[in-house]
Amino acid sequence: MNNETRRVPEEEILRQKEIMARVRGMLPAGRKYHIVTLGCQMNVRDSETLAGMLTEMGFTEAATREEADLILYNTCCVRENAENKALGNVIWLKELKKDKPELIICVGGCMTQEEGMAESLIRQYPFIDLVFGTHNAYRFPEYLEKVLSDRVQVFEVLDTGGTICEGLPEKRSNPYFGFVNIMYGCNNFCSYCIVPYVRGRERSREMDDILGECKRLRDAGAREIMLLGQNVNSYMGGGAKFAELLYRVDALDIPRVRFMTSHPKDLSDELIAAYGELRHLMPNLHLPVQAGNDEILKRMNRHYDREKYLSLVRRLRAVRPDIGLTTDVIVGFPGETEAQFEDTLSLVREVRFDAAYTFIYSPRAGTRAAEMDDPVSMEEKTERIQRLIALQQSITSEVLASQIGRIQPVLVDSVSTRSEQTIGGKTPRAHMVNFPGSAERIGQTVPVRITSAGKNTLRGEAVEG
Ligand code: SAH
Ligand code: SF4
Ligand code: F3S
Repeated sequence: MNNETRRVPEEEILRQKEIMARVRGMLPAGRKYHIVTLGCQMNVRDSETLAGMLTEMGFTEAATREEADLILYNTCCVRENAENKALGNVIWLKELKKDKPELIICVGGCMTQEEGMAESLIRQYPFIDLVFGTHNAYRFPEYLEKVLSDRVQVFEVLDTGGTICEGLPEKRSNPYFGFVNIMYGCNNFCSYCIVPYVRGRERSREMDDILGECKRLRDAGAREIMLLGQNVNSYMGGGAKFAELLYRVDALDIPRVRFMTSHPKDLSDELIAAYGELRHLMPNLHLPVQAGNDEILKRMNRHYDREKYLSLVRRLRAVRPDIGLTTDVIVGFPGETEAQFEDTLSLVREVRFDAAYTFIYSPRAGTRAAEMDDPVSMEEKTERIQRLIALQQSITSEVLASQIGRIQPVLVDSVSTRSEQTIGGKTPRAHMVNFPGSAERIGQTVPVRITSAGKNTLRGEAVEG
């Protein structure tokens, strides 16, 4: 199926908009919603659309679950603990509903797309009102109207391989920072990963739609955007196309541009070159390596080996010496030996990532790796991940310490939870910096002299004048 046929027709979007207006008329004023978002940036962006729809339907945001008339869980299932968290959260709502029988409980997101999951949720938890999948989330208004008017449980999860939807409302969580989807789904089928099953086939948005969204964000004051996709290098079938998109986004003059995630197997020469040329492309790249051993990488179906990964790192650093690299690592893939794990440690030592997100392998039903023999005990895997975390921690500390004394432009995004006199933001390389200042500076880029380094963040002071 090509992108044209995957696109949800405009009439269908208009139909949902009419339903939103109807629901607005049907509900008493002052209804509140609360969305809980689990999982990755894709879900964060999807929640902004769901929040936009709820706003159109007359809801306002509630600060807590207790205050809400409607609670929506946007779930993740990439690892078992993500799924347990979603389930645990949802089960807890049963108590809330006892005190507030009119409370509406909705569950969407990746977990609902797992085989048999939607049915089992509806059957096991009769207090859930609505379950919908990732491919039909644009029909949320229609489903909600049905729940409200018929007071029945509604569940619909489609296995269409996925859609592209333009023109839905959105409620952005931060005016200075915007997530922009460039593609959806994934065709890579890494052997451990459930994402291709729950997010459907790879499909790219039209370049003009993406640029239009970026312009809108820019005109509304965004200082930074992050382009999103499970594998941005596959944007419209090839790294060159993604590089082309980046050049066009760069020309919009949004101060900071980042993207994620990039798959090492098709990180193109054009993209590496872009790091040397584009003014707004920030010097950091999340490049998940997953493992440092060739045999494991092969069984993971990653389509690159250790040497290819290391050569990408060398070339990126040749073009952009200050680039900060971050990564994802899976420990304890089925059958991983101690020696194979040590290859991961040595790769981490060699690359010196700014940060690494480390996960113990979690079997996911339906994936190929879930069928593989896995003789290594959980105890052993836990011990391995601790060694990896300790190694990365020492590298992160050294990288951060190397920033002391430098002056960095920090885009302020938050006030510290500990002290109102402390604000925080990111450097171009995506290091978090806290420094004394007041909330008015949120959204501004402030030159900050780095004075000390903590475990994962820097401290500094604003350089005025
Ligand atoms: N599309 C992104 C990754 C999305 S999932 C990419 O390819 O880089 C985010 C991370 O979760 C992955 O990079 C991987 O490290 C981890 N992950 C995915 N499936 C997993 C599993 N079954 N067990 C443990 N970690 C997993
Ligand atoms: Fe999962 Fe691999 Fe696709 Fe990333 S590229 S989402 S790890 S299958
Ligand atoms: Fe989780 Fe779905 Fe993202 S499974 S990691 S929320 S794409």
